[in-house]
Order: sequence, then C-alpha cells, then structure tokens
Amino acid sequence: MLAGAGALALGALSGGGIEQPIPFPHDVHAGTNQIPCMYCHSSADRSVDAGIPSMEVCAGCHLPGGVPMVAADSPGIRTLTAYWNAGEAVPWVRIHDIPDHAHFPHMMHVNAGVECQECHGQVEEMAEIEQVSSLRMGWCLDCHRERQVRTDCFVCHY
Ligand code: HEC
Ligand code: HEC
Ligand code: HEC
Ligand code: HEC
Ligand code: HEC
Repeated sequence: MLAGAGALALGALSGGGIEQPIPFPHDVHAGTNQIPCMYCHSSADRSVDAGIPSMEVCAGCHLPGGVPMVAADSPGIRTLTAYWNAGEAVPWVRIHDIPDHAHFPHMMHVNAGVECQECHGQVEEMAEIEQVSSLRMGWCLDCHRERQVRTDCFVCHY
C-alpha cells in the first residue's frame, strides 16, 4: 500500500491499477512455479525489446492441443481460451514506456549482467506488475556513471 501511495505522489510511476485483459500473476509463474523471466520475455538478450509472450507461449502450458489445462477453471484461463478460440492475440496494455527520442536497448544491459530486478524490482513477488523505477534520464545517468558506462548524449538520443 505504501509503495502505491508513493507512486501516486511522485506521479512518475505507474502500473498498479492498470487493468489487463487477463489478470496475469507474475508471483504464481516466476515465483511459486519458478518459470524463468526469459522463458516468456525471450528476446531480452538479443533485442531492444524484452518482448511480451505470444498466445502460443501461454497455450504451451494452458491449452495443449487446444484443451484447457493447468488452472483450467480459473476466470483468467477461461478468458485465455476465449481469445484462443477466436484466433485473437491477448491485447496486453503496455506499462513501461520511455519517449521515442530516447533509446533503451535491453540486450546491452542483460548481456552486461544487469539483473531484471535492478530495474524492474522483485517481479517474482508481484501479483500485478508495477513500475518501480522512474525511467527518467537522471535514473539512467546515475547507473551509467556508477558503472562507468558512456553518458554522452548520442548514446541514448539518436
Ligand atoms: C509465464 C510468462 C511470464 C514469465 C515467466 C514472466 N513474465 Fe513478465 N510478463 C508476462 C506477460 C503476459 C506480461 C504482460 C501482462 C502484464 O503486464 O502483467 C508481462 C509483463 C512484464 C513487464 C511489464 C511490461 C510492460 O508492459 O511494461 C515486466 C517488466 C516483466 N513482465 C518482467 C518480468 C520479469 C523480471 C520476470 C521474471 C522475474 C517475468 N516478467 C516473468 C509474462 C511473463
Ligand atoms: C511453463 C508453463 C506456463 C506458462 C508458459 C504459462 N503458465 Fe499460467 N500457470 C502455470 C502454472 C503452473 C499455474 C498455477 C496453476 C495452479 O496453481 O493451479 C498457472 C496459473 C495461471 C493462471 C491462474 C492464476 C490464478 O491463481 O488464478 C492464469 C490466469 C495464467 N496462468 C495465465 C497465463 C498466461 C496469460 C500465460 C501466457 C502469457 C501463461 N499463464 C503462461 C504455468 C504456465
Ligand atoms: C537497466 C534497466 C533494465 C533492465 C536490466 C531490464 N529492463 Fe526491462 N525495461 C527497462 C526500460 C527502461 C523499459 C522501457 C523501454 C522502452 O520504453 O523503450 C523496459 C521495458 C520492459 C518490458 C516492456 C516491453 C518490452 O518488450 O520492452 C518488459 C517486458 C521488460 N522490460 C522485461 C524485462 C526483463 C524480463 C528483464 C531481464 C531479462 C529486463 N526487462 C531487464 C529497463 C530494464
Ligand atoms: C542499473 C544500471 C543501468 C541503468 C539503470 C541503465 N543502464 Fe544503460 N547500461 C548499463 C550498463 C552496465 C551498460 C553497458 C553495457 C556494455 O558496456 O556492454 C549500459 C549500456 C547502455 C547503452 C549502450 C551503450 C553503448 O556504449 O552502446 C545504452 C544506449 C543505454 N545503456 C541506455 C540506457 C537508458 C536509456 C537508460 C534509462 C532508461 C539506461 N541505459 C539505464 C547500465 C544501466
Ligand atoms: C543514458 C541515457 C541518456 C543519456 C546519456 C542522455 N539522455 Fe537525455 N533522456 C534520456 C531518457 C530516458 C529521457 C526520457 C525520460 C525523461 O524525460 O527523463 C531523456 C530526456 C531528455 C530530454 C527531454 C526532457 C524533457 O523534459 O522532456 C532532453 C532535452 C535530453 N534528454 C537531453 C539530453 C542531453 C543534452 C544529453 C547529453 C548531455 C542527454 N540527454 C543524455 C536518456 C539519456
């Protein structure tokens, strides 16, 4: 609750309270069931974007052969099945988003050994994703200075 109140006061953080088409619990998947982050966000080490998993990734566990499995009776899996039967992608709502004039490449960070949690917090404990870092320029520069990474304008603005 405190984190939520702080986020509101700062006005820079978001995520909590955003309604997703299917309430997707990271704690159940990445926490209790220990599914690695990159099982779902599979382009994080080779692309600018970490990537949001396709319906096929969910279906691999929840709809093998089109048959609902694993938490099949939960409202979320019923909604997932409805999207699957309609042949539609789940219209996930994006939370983290920096302006287009700045560039953030996931692969450079992941391959340099920066953990997802350093920027995204303890996602494996979150029932609902929250943005815990401001993603403002000062935040980028603080870490770059600390780790002696380049800070000239053209590193991020081009
Ligand atoms: C079983 C698949 C799965 C696993 C495992 C998983 N995620 Fe996700 N992740 C998703 C889906 C689906 C979304 C989009 C829905 C949402 O935002 O809750 C998402 C959203 C996110 C977002 C927010 C994206 C945005 O819109 O800004 C972050 C950050 C994230 N995940 C980080 C992680 C991290 C870190 C881990 C490991 C600790 C992890 N995820 C494990 C499926 C997964
Ligand atoms: C590697 C296997 C795996 C993948 C991939 C996977 N899940 Fe799950 N999911 C699970 C397991 C295990 C549970 C917990 C089942 C239980 O506790 O009964 C679960 C539970 C759920 C639940 C029910 C949560 C609850 O407590 O009611 C939802 C909703 C869900 N998953 C959605 C998704 C979506 C959407 C995707 C794709 C983005 C996805 N899952 C991908 C394994 C997976
Ligand atoms: C150095 C900080 C940092 C690290 C480390 C990091 N991220 Fe991100 N992440 C960001 C920023 C900043 C954004 C917003 C990027 C944008 O808007 O272009 C973001 C966005 C995302 C998104 C939204 C959609 C997308 O495809 O980009 C997901 C999902 C995500 N991160 C998952 C992860 C996962 C999983 C890891 C670890 C494998 C990870 N991130 C590591 C900072 C980080
Ligand atoms: C927690 C630490 C951390 C944060 C926060 C961080 N970075 Fe980085 N960043 C790094 C590290 C470490 C590297 C170095 C990768 C290497 O040397 O291979 C890097 C490299 C980069 C590069 C590639 C630099 C090059 O020489 O080509 C860009 C671009 C970049 N970061 C942009 C950003 C942006 C934009 C943000 C904020 C939205 C950000 N970073 C936040 C640690 C961070
Ligand atoms: C490590 C990455 C990084 C570097 C280096 C960097 N910026 Fe930024 N900059 C960002 C990000 C991310 C944003 C968008 C978030 C924000 O507005 O704080 C931004 C935003 C800005 C803005 C818009 C601010 C606003 O209020 O809309 C300006 C102007 C700017 N940067 C100028 C510069 C200049 C000039 C330099 C070199 C002295 C520089 N930046 C270096 C990441 C960087």
